[in-house]
Amino acid sequence: MILLSDVSKTYELGQDRTVKAVADVTLEVRDGEFLVITGRSGSGKTTLLNLAAGLTRPTSGTVTLDGVDVWSLTDNQRAALRGRKIGFAFQFPSLLPSLTVLENVLLPTLFAPNGEDDGTTDRAMELIADVGLSEKVRAYPRQLSAGQQQRVVIARALMNRPEVLLADEPTSDLDEHTETEVMDLFRAIHRSRGITIMMVTHSSDLVHYGTRSIAMASGQVVAERDLAHA
Ligand SMILES: Nc1ncnc2c1ncn2[C@@H]1O[C@H](COP(=O)(O)OP(=O)(O)OP(=O)(O)O)[C@@H](O)[C@H]1O
Ligand SMILES: [Mg+2]
Repeated sequence: MILLSDVSKTYELGQDRTVKAVADVTLEVRDGEFLVITGRSGSGKTTLLNLAAGLTRPTSGTVTLDGVDVWSLTDNQRAALRGRKIGFAFQFPSLLPSLTVLENVLLPTLFAPNGEDDGTTDRAMELIADVGLSEKVRAYPRQLSAGQQQRVVIARALMNRPEVLLADEPTSDLDEHTETEVMDLFRAIHRSRGITIMMVTHSSDLVHYGTRSIAMASGQVVAERDLAHA
């Protein structure tokens, strides 16, 4: 469970000008929920996601991950915790162009504490099959459609068996049909793995995929909707 308590993030713009990207947000991301975050450009969605991920240090407030205050840890401890618990599916292109699909999916294991083991390649192949890309294992990203590339990003995000999957506008570069396919994949992953998902989206049409949604404006959470029983 991720808990943001009274969290703010202020950026210094120079000449005494600052911007409060996230302002006094308290938010509990509950285990197993599919939380969708909406809001206009500049409302603080990406900053909130990066705060929840322990990637951005809050200017004030605390971020705890399963009870651990992530900014009380050393850089290495925090990186290890992130690597164990969190998978990232941010806006592509984030695949490495010179690596094949399989090699891209294997990337996170290079940084994992236990590194590669005998089962690693098998697991990557399974995940690639799960996202429907078995025939593309040896393909390079440029040989894939946008939707297929996003599927690889999702498979890669699941490689280290994260408890939480964070996604920042994962469908913003996709046409409507492909967007639906990728969102259906997120839904299937959520249902079959019981994983927690926190997703930022530009499109209010996608809110119904979540079990809960929050809307942001000017760095604050201005609305919340429970969708689990809708
Ligand atoms: N590294 C940074 N330095 C300075 N200002 C920043 C930085 N990152 C974000 N901001 C500012 O903080 C505010 C929130 O930005 P953020 O990227 O979180 O918005 P967003 O809701 O994700 O927007 P979008 O929908 O366009 O991705 C914006 O005013 C932005 O300009
Ligand atoms: Mg953003």
